[in-house]
Amino acid sequence: MNYDLKEKVVIITGAARGVGRTMVNAFVEQGARVVATDRDADGLAETCADFPDVVSLVEDISTPEGAEKIVETAVRHYGHLDVCVNNAAVAPHTSILEEKMEVWDRVYAVNCRGTFLMTQAAGKALIAGHRGGRIINFSSGASLRGGPGAAAYASSRAATEGFSRVAAIELAPHNILVNTISPGLIDTQPKPLPPDMAKALESRIPTMPLARAGQPEEVAHVVMFLASDASSFITGTVIHVDGGTSVGSRFSGSVVDDDPRYDWVTGRDQSR
Ligand SMILES: NC(=O)c1ccc[n+]([C@@H]2O[C@H](COP(=O)([O-])OP(=O)(O)OC[C@H]3O[C@@H](n4cnc5c(N)ncnc54)[C@H](O)[C@@H]3O)[C@@H](O)[C@H]2O)c1
Repeated sequence: MNYDLKEKVVIITGAARGVGRTMVNAFVEQGARVVATDRDADGLAETCADFPDVVSLVEDISTPEGAEKIVETAVRHYGHLDVCVNNAAVAPHTSILEEKMEVWDRVYAVNCRGTFLMTQAAGKALIAGHRGGRIINFSSGASLRGGPGAAAYASSRAATEGFSRVAAIELAPHNILVNTISPGLIDTQPKPLPPDMAKALESRIPTMPLARAGQPEEVAHVVMFLASDASSFITGTVIHVDGGTSVGSRFSGSVVDDDPRYDWVTGRDQSR
């Protein structure tokens, strides 16, 4: 994939593993100047081990101090900011009847407040830079479907979609484009898989239109598109990177149209 991201200053949150780590690799490969950040110091060090030029920063995006420090660091180090990718999130699952309020609040603090604080801090820096910019937030296919145990996660991800639409409208006059990536099942799970998760995935994957999990690179490619000049007329949208899961289930068999009501439409019965 080749997008011209040379010299673009890009913040990537949640960079210690999964999609975030892959995005750091992908943006560096395209010549971007990256600030990689996460609350997990060990994972972040591993992500950045081969990239001495990447600015790596251990911060918590759910606090105003953390969000401001991340953006300030990017501007201080590189002189300005171009792109902020708000990928960090948490997704603990439990039933609504057993959900603890503290856990619910922590999920919202990271997934919603963190996205808000990062968007606010990045928005201010982008406006001050007078060069426009991009903010790319993350949601999830879980926001569209009910799934057991996903109440806090699914609703918090749906909230980022609503939030991002408002941000797109408010920041458009500054030529700051705000979009949301909504991944489906992406292969970032811990290995080996916990047995319950393995079972759930085994039954779910064959029902997905493309019948496979996505790779983190397949998410990174779309994020790079949204960060690049190629997407200059796209703002306020949600892009599903989910192998078709949001539109339906895998189809097997053949389509047979034998409904006699429509013989006159299909031409099967020439007399009507
Ligand atoms: N992997 C999937 O199947 C999937 C599906 C749908 C949506 N998503 C979304 O894609 C994004 C990436 O998913 P992933 O699977 O790579 O996630 P992950 O859980 O593997 O990684 C998330 C990273 O965010 C970091 N993080 C969490 N809270 C933080 C905080 N307060 N401050 C700083 N860093 C914090 C974690 O330490 C971790 O490194 C997330 O926004 C997620 O909601 C993923």
